[in-house]
Amino acid sequence: MQIVMIGSGYVGLVSGACFADFGHDVVCVDKDAQKIAKLKDGGIPIYEPGLDQLVSGNVAAGRLSFSTDLAEPVAKADVVFIGVGTPTRRGDGHADLSYVYAAAKEIAEALDGFTVIVTKSTVPVGTGDEVERIIRETNPSADFAVASNPEFLREGAAIEDFKRPDRIVVGIEDEKARAPMEAVYRPLYLNKSPILFTRRRTSELIKYAANAFLAMKITFINEIADLCEKVGADVQDVSRGIGLDNRIGAKFLHAGPGYGGSCFPKDTLALAKTAQDYDSPVRLIETTVAINDNRKRAMARKVIAAMDGDVRGKRIGLLGLTFKPNTDDMREAPSIAIVQALTDAGAKVVAYDPEGMNAARELLPEIDYVQSAYEVADGADALAIVTEWDAFRALDLPRLKTLMKAPVLVDLRNVYSPAEMTEAGFHYSSIGRPDADAPAA
Ligand code: UDX
Repeated sequence: MQIVMIGSGYVGLVSGACFADFGHDVVCVDKDAQKIAKLKDGGIPIYEPGLDQLVSGNVAAGRLSFSTDLAEPVAKADVVFIGVGTPTRRGDGHADLSYVYAAAKEIAEALDGFTVIVTKSTVPVGTGDEVERIIRETNPSADFAVASNPEFLREGAAIEDFKRPDRIVVGIEDEKARAPMEAVYRPLYLNKSPILFTRRRTSELIKYAANAFLAMKITFINEIADLCEKVGADVQDVSRGIGLDNRIGAKFLHAGPGYGGSCFPKDTLALAKTAQDYDSPVRLIETTVAINDNRKRAMARKVIAAMDGDVRGKRIGLLGLTFKPNTDDMREAPSIAIVQALTDAGAKVVAYDPEGMNAARELLPEIDYVQSAYEVADGADALAIVTEWDAFRALDLPRLKTLMKAPVLVDLRNVYSPAEMTEAGFHYSSIGRPDADAPAA
């Protein structure tokens, strides 16, 4: 198959490289000439484990190439994916579809022979209809079908998620789109990954409903964690105790500082807005959004409480800044609100993140950035684990304690156990777990 991927950002690049690895001929297109030049030079603009080898291997095999020009590859393509950004529009919380529609128009002008145009970006219900209308209006004689094929990739595990998906969802209105979409995913088809063919609007909604449900699940366990702290219960055991019920499932029940990233915050907000527009509000999701927003700042209050309510002039060290490990992505990271609240309260923040510091420097110029967890600890009045990078899972605790001014550690990811930290001489607090010396329930 000849595939074109419009947009070489996170989704486009990972998906393009994986399709090439399936044996297809893939051209990844982007308007950003610098990005394309970097890719052509063997550089990877984002951090994603395994992506550099996947890209270089497929480029070497002649299956993957990069271009700023859309017209030539689109004319030859069987399937054109639109994987451009759909950021939250300023002011109203809706997804900004201008990049998607601009891509549709340009694709329309270049079409030659039957082509399936597929939205891979997360797009509100009805976007496929509008893409179809734009293409037909721009090029009335074009032979095409528009499909929806949302991605469910997690940053940091995107290649694994692409190659071993729980399911593939394809929304079509025209049966002619089915065979090309099956061909595109043929290796997964052979591997018995479930492929769900449905209508286009349904497919578009599945993506939002999936992300909203997961965001709600996290928010649920976060509130239960708060309750655990009040009643002396252990949220990790609650997660396990409920997650072993197959109807609930064990995943996405890890309590923490609130969800961040490029998807959950944006998609929950967009779903809530769409639902309001259709006069069918999704109140659970509206509430989820509000609870999660409040939670991020509340995490700073937790740190302040661990320091007896006063952080003025104190040096507080943060371990991790990205919204989760194995990514350099700072979008909607809880650390942003935490740093702002700590700074507002008069603290000086020092931080280390294995991959996120370049992005963080732009968002949070007030932080002192250092190069290791131990440098963060050096002279700190308190430490907080904000992102559960592996580098923070086996810290040399005696060394950490010696370096710190006071051994206060707030673990917002429950990386350590209260018993081991108390044993190591720390004043330790975490999320939704009783202190080590509290009597067993
Ligand atoms: C998510 C979806 O998982 C993916 O299917 C979708 O396509 C894009 O959005 P991603 O944002 O990369 O992927 O990360 P994910 O691993 O889902 O984590 C999102 C946020 O939730 C992170 O901030 C993470 O720390 C938090 N989280 C996740 C929890 O706090 N607890 C959990 O149990 C799981």
